[in-house]
Amino acid sequence: MKYLAIALFLMPTSIYSLSEAAPLFLEPLLKEDLPLKSLLKAPVKLENSAKAFELTAASRLIETIPGVKTEFWTYNQGLPGPIIEVEEGDRIQVKLINQINKVTTLHWHGVNVPPDQDGNPMDPVKPQQSHNYKFSIPLGSAGTYWYHPHTHQGASEQIFRGMNGLFIVRDPKDPLRNLPEKNLFITDLKIDDAGQIPANNNIDWMDGREGNYVLINGQNKPVIDIGPNETQRWRLINATNARFLRFAITDHSLIQVGTDGGLLEFPRADLTEIILAPAERIELLVQGNAQKSGHFDIQMLPYMRGKMAGKEQAQAIKIATLNYNPSIKSTDFSLPKRLRTIEPLGTPTATKKIIFQEKIKMKNGIHAMEFLINGQGYDMMRVDARSKAGEVELWEVSNQSDMDHPFHMHGAQFQVIEKEHLGKVEKLSYLAWKDTFNLKSGETIRLKVKQDFKGIRMYHCHIAEHEDSGMMATLEVY
Ligand code: C2O
Ligand code: CU
Ligand code: CU
Repeated sequence: MKYLAIALFLMPTSIYSLSEAAPLFLEPLLKEDLPLKSLLKAPVKLENSAKAFELTAASRLIETIPGVKTEFWTYNQGLPGPIIEVEEGDRIQVKLINQINKVTTLHWHGVNVPPDQDGNPMDPVKPQQSHNYKFSIPLGSAGTYWYHPHTHQGASEQIFRGMNGLFIVRDPKDPLRNLPEKNLFITDLKIDDAGQIPANNNIDWMDGREGNYVLINGQNKPVIDIGPNETQRWRLINATNARFLRFAITDHSLIQVGTDGGLLEFPRADLTEIILAPAERIELLVQGNAQKSGHFDIQMLPYMRGKMAGKEQAQAIKIATLNYNPSIKSTDFSLPKRLRTIEPLGTPTATKKIIFQEKIKMKNGIHAMEFLINGQGYDMMRVDARSKAGEVELWEVSNQSDMDHPFHMHGAQFQVIEKEHLGKVEKLSYLAWKDTFNLKSGETIRLKVKQDFKGIRMYHCHIAEHEDSGMMATLEVY
């Protein structure tokens, strides 16, 4: 019934007449202290009983500081791209129209889609061409994901110029479905003195690029309203190339309810801070329950990640304001004890050992870094590991380098069992679905994973510059 109604409503119109056309930027992008905007949703129509979306990658000039227009690469003219929102079990298709002057792909970070629909580097979409990605949303996969390009050696640039967006999978029986929701899609913007987005320099290539503005939903230090005593559900997405977000709100504790692959089994309450490595997502409950009312800083606390070239973040950076708004009525909320059941993956019957390494090399008379997995840089023509579809495997991933590197795998959510550092093993205290997990220098993690689809998958460091410099490898699932 619902679909029929949507279909009738949409039938005579094109996808664009329904959309808000190009999103408007009424104020210069970097203007601070404006109310947080919600992200636009990508318009949907039904095509052969699949939910059909369209994303056009194209450049757009946006006023960033008064009088200065900056060129971004956008999806549907937005910054970030529109939310693609679907339900478990949906069949969907997304038509990518490439109007930028580079080859691109669309990768569905964290969603279990067939390999040939996952925007792998070997499936590029050329300029002025389009591609229709088609896949189904697995049951049990409700959660917070994102989409971004995954071209060979071009992903980092396309992401930092603005090409990324939120992908939400909903479960109609989600136990937290009645809570008001906010999305905080976090990106990083670097603009130079001329107000333009510069190419990566050597420091960016080594450390991973950090900009001079951390944006939330494309806004600079926005104000987020909450009612006194209100409980809100926040989805945090770290879509930056290389920022480690040690997230905290002054005078507030946080309740974590979800990770990359959806809800946890049990909420984790009373957290004073939470860290998101590049590409990680977290779901939080934020409550307007501080002793005083007024404004609170939403901060990114200092984090040392073993940078090779640039300065570490030594001080807390304010990225937004939490504002108590007494006109927001709050409804009663009691935190469920259990959010869902996560079945532990069974006993592994195969193993993999993955080692992250950095090496210094000389290139045109200057020192440059090589980022390697098991001693090799990424080669599209090579298969680095093979897994059998449906088999539970134990992966041991070690970081034998000086920097933090977030490990990411395509095609599956995994379960991290334990971490090891200097011979000390620490079991993880809770079960969660993850597709990205940070490794500090010298750390080893052990995780269980099972791939469902046959085909080619990638695994890599999700500092986008490291991925582009070779810290990526190919898994063939057979
Ligand atoms: Cu978020 Cu291989 O990607
Ligand atoms: Cu991915
Ligand atoms: Cu890395």
